[in-house]
Amino acid sequence: MRQKIVAGNWKMNKTLEEANILTSEIAGMVADEVKSDAKIIFCVPFPYLLPIKNQLGTNARIAIGAQNCSEHESGAYTGEVSAAMLKSVGIPYVILGHSERRQYFGEDGKLLAKKVDIALKHGLTPIFCCGEPLEVRESNGHETLVKKQVEESLFHLDADAIKKIVIAYEPVWAIGTGKTATAQQAQDMHAVIRKHLAAKYGQSVADSISILYGGSVNAANAKELFACPDVDGGLVGGASLKSREFTEVIKGA
Ligand code: PGA
Repeated sequence: MRQKIVAGNWKMNKTLEEANILTSEIAGMVADEVKSDAKIIFCVPFPYLLPIKNQLGTNARIAIGAQNCSEHESGAYTGEVSAAMLKSVGIPYVILGHSERRQYFGEDGKLLAKKVDIALKHGLTPIFCCGEPLEVRESNGHETLVKKQVEESLFHLDADAIKKIVIAYEPVWAIGTGKTATAQQAQDMHAVIRKHLAAKYGQSVADSISILYGGSVNAANAKELFACPDVDGGLVGGASLKSREFTEVIKGA
């Protein structure tokens, strides 16, 4: 059985005080209401990693992740945060290659391969994002592009290493738009990704990798999306900023 994961991507939102309130509300609701053993991850802005980790204390249900890390080991890279630093403060997860990083910060497949390597080297679990823009979907190039994104940044890994990756398929046209992929569209792409992994690494490795769906996941659509056989949970933006909404998303897993 693959691990079901619901990860909230807070992006660049909230003050620390608001983040503390959100955390305590969700932790309380999860303790009272969530029966499933889905892994819950809060991917928070850098300044909140330690405060939120400390706030959660021994809460074993909720883990913390960063939203990015440098491709460099250490040194004169003003403003950057390294994988070793994240590890040293006890952060287990890091989102890599989010479409906003690709679009606004010019991150490409080669750079992301380096980030994946350095994250793994320091024992972090990358949540590696892929997904096509609208025009690629409309010209029916989505499967080719997403397979290429996975190849470029992950296929240099050996089987033991790729098993440590979580993949998030996030069609760019569905991110923050309220326009979710249908469950069928999500399932179809997840199956394509898994088949691609199986062709390279074998079926049992492919079957062990959690593939999350992201893009306008909310309380109303999570259950149907997460019920798809190849959808192992979600990477959730907007809905992860509201405690009731996010708890309902978690319940869908
Ligand atoms: P959204 O964002 O849920 O607000 O569409 C998802 C993401 O960007 O990870």
